[in-house]
Amino acid sequence: MLANRRTSCRGPTGQFLDTTVGPICQSDPKHAALRPLTNSRRLRRASSLPIGVPFQTQAKRRGCALRLVGSVVAVAAVPPDYDSDPGRSRSFLPGWQEDVHRPVADRLIAEGVESVLDVGCGIGRFGAAVLGRVRWIGLDESARQIGDCSYRPVVRGDARFLPFGDESFDAVVMLWMLYHLDEPLVALREARRVVRRGGLVAVCTSSRSNDPELVPGGYPPTPFDAEEAVEIVGLVFGESNVEVEHWDSPMVRLKDRDEVAAYVRSHLLPSDMAAGVTVPLLLTKRGCLAWARRP
Ligand SMILES: C[S@@+](CC[C@H](N)C(=O)[O-])C[C@H]1O[C@@H](n2cnc3c(N)ncnc32)[C@H](O)[C@@H]1O
Repeated sequence: MLANRRTSCRGPTGQFLDTTVGPICQSDPKHAALRPLTNSRRLRRASSLPIGVPFQTQAKRRGCALRLVGSVVAVAAVPPDYDSDPGRSRSFLPGWQEDVHRPVADRLIAEGVESVLDVGCGIGRFGAAVLGRVRWIGLDESARQIGDCSYRPVVRGDARFLPFGDESFDAVVMLWMLYHLDEPLVALREARRVVRRGGLVAVCTSSRSNDPELVPGGYPPTPFDAEEAVEIVGLVFGESNVEVEHWDSPMVRLKDRDEVAAYVRSHLLPSDMAAGVTVPLLLTKRGCLAWARRP
């Protein structure tokens, strides 16, 4: 059943971005129960965001579909460009210092996890953190990312339709990837399906107020920002089964203009944003890591 309006537009790499307003396609009964509720919640929250012209311009340049539909602002996912522009995501590798991979791996090991599915595994940063300590399987939709991932096995697939049976893993991680999905709930429900009862799911994302020294007006919203992440995860696992760790501290130092330019590119920001900053530039990182335990 198709309910309400569904619109689409093209992202910078030519792919279609769907923007759905109100209750959405309910043809898949597996996902029907939660999708309409969350989508409308997301839109309600987005509608209270301060939307100024520079903000919208920034979102457009970043490739995000952000537009007024009636009285609400529809937020589309950050378009994945890992195959069309592989240099973009690799343009600032020192950004790894802000990362969660090792702490997530250490907790899973401490909890006695024996198998973990890494959804949106990319080039294998989490695979490296668990190497030799746990049975790891990566999954990613990008052929280029999989080709450049040093760890195996890796499956090419979509987070929204995981090619695994129910309760196949002790843990699932979805690190820095849910903002690529228009409906992160669908992927979270898949994670819940394939993790065993009592198993753990770890997700992380950044805040719209990340990097305030560089982006004082804030990043454009995505469907899965730290501001809403816990609520969204709670809809799938139950609020009482979710714990969260926020960070808000200076973590990344850009030593010169070349590093600022690389950082700006890697974060899909307009290149002219690098022009006015004073170097060295210390960036405050804001975001969160949420843990959900399947009841
Ligand atoms: C920012 S990278 C993060 C990679 C890795 N998780 C990490 O922390 O280094 C996002 C990854 O998610 C993948 N991705 C995006 N949408 C996906 C989807 N629907 N299904 C599976 N992978 C997806 C991209 O191809 C990319 O490798």
